[in-house]
Amino acid sequence: MDFPKISIFGLGYVGSVSAACLADRGCRVTGVDRLPEKVRQINSGRAPVKEEGLDALTTKAVKAGLLSATVDIAQAVRESEVSIICVGTPSRKNGNIDLTHLEEVCSEIGEALAEKEAFHVVVVRSTIIPGTMRKTVIPALERASGKKSETDFGVCHNPEFLREGSAIADFRNPARTVIGVTDLRSGNIVQTLYEGLPGLIARCSIEKAEMVKYADNAWHAAKTVFANEIGRLCKAEGIDSHEVMDIFCQDTKLNLSKSYLKPGFAFGGSCLPKDLRALNYKAKSLGIMTPLLDALLDSNRYQTASGLDMIVSTGKKSIGFLGYSFKAGTDDIRESPVLEIIRWLRALKFDVRLYDGNVEHAVPDITPCIVKDIDSLLGGSEVIVIGTDDPEFAAIAGKLRQEQTVIDFVRIREIEQSHANYKGIVW
Ligand SMILES: NC(=O)c1ccc[n+]([C@@H]2O[C@H](COP(=O)([O-])OP(=O)(O)OC[C@H]3O[C@@H](n4cnc5c(N)ncnc54)[C@H](O)[C@@H]3O)[C@@H](O)[C@H]2O)c1
Repeated sequence: MDFPKISIFGLGYVGSVSAACLADRGCRVTGVDRLPEKVRQINSGRAPVKEEGLDALTTKAVKAGLLSATVDIAQAVRESEVSIICVGTPSRKNGNIDLTHLEEVCSEIGEALAEKEAFHVVVVRSTIIPGTMRKTVIPALERASGKKSETDFGVCHNPEFLREGSAIADFRNPARTVIGVTDLRSGNIVQTLYEGLPGLIARCSIEKAEMVKYADNAWHAAKTVFANEIGRLCKAEGIDSHEVMDIFCQDTKLNLSKSYLKPGFAFGGSCLPKDLRALNYKAKSLGIMTPLLDALLDSNRYQTASGLDMIVSTGKKSIGFLGYSFKAGTDDIRESPVLEIIRWLRALKFDVRLYDGNVEHAVPDITPCIVKDIDSLLGGSEVIVIGTDDPEFAAIAGKLRQEQTVIDFVRIREIEQSHANYKGIVW
């Protein structure tokens, strides 16, 4: 395969694994680190970090003439077509990301780009908080090079998902590869590095690529903490937590799946809230700390409150709700968070209209607000709140008046795409 020539900046875990693995695929790689010791180690065929199989792979790549290292930034940029940045992005004392190394390396690469004619792509593989490519990386490269991103040079964000200890295996068998792009040409060049590897290649905006990495890590942390809290409860009750979680993991429909992972409105219904309350009470009565499980209802209440806030913030007084059961396809209104909002608005003297084709017998306090069909609701409401994704609601797209505001808790694409005055709850 015809790979571009690569320079890799930062020879820590990510840089030295990427360097050896890309060289192993047949790329010509130059590693750069500001620590001469790491450069010496690579050139003598040794890996600068301890990682299963990395010494052997480094030795092989150096012997094959595909991998070398240098402290000479200008030469590394001049002699490569793609520079991959793998410097550290540690925490500051206040928790904020420290971009000092990233800013420095971008200025250094930018200065080298000023002296280079040919098109060059700068790829950030370090983990960076959303907005960093646009606000830090591109300006630093443009300032130092005097050139323009997308036309004179390209940028991509290609976050790293390897796990220390199985980094080489993870490189060769990725769950998926994420390439955040601003221009087609640079995205295509970076994609060639991964051609033939298993797993999907997800091309998206640089901001989405930045965010996916944090969603991944937060999810892994949430899974670990969740399993440990269930474990603490199990142990206190003399139940084998591993057997419980093995059975839990057998459910690949609801537990280990896409289910419940679409951002939207608060949960409700006859089970989740009451069962969480019972579990939280049980933990407290056992003297077990379960902060994650305790936080779930709080966070859910916040989602309901932000829905209410969006409605009140419109400044309008007549509000129509399409769907107020706790989810589409059911008439169950027990602990429906939409109903909670409706009751708040009624208490605040808003003029509220309700329609839900599934609910025949509503509770008495809201019965006066119920209208017989969607058209009567649209006719009298300044704000339309879509509370459930009942298929019949998509059809309102063509019936809305321009001045009507739509607040959508479920994301009906037909309405989002056609109505200018549209607000999604978390999109
Ligand atoms: N370690 C992991 O398992 C892992 C996994 C995925 C993502 N990441 C992310 O990848 C990035 C790198 O992580 P790491 O663990 O490899 O870091 P690291 O601290 O092990 O290595 C960073 C290297 O960059 C070098 N460096 C700093 N400034 C430089 C400069 N201006 N020019 C050249 N070299 C420079 C340092 O000397 C060091 O060798 C971080 O953003 C991290 O969050 C790490």
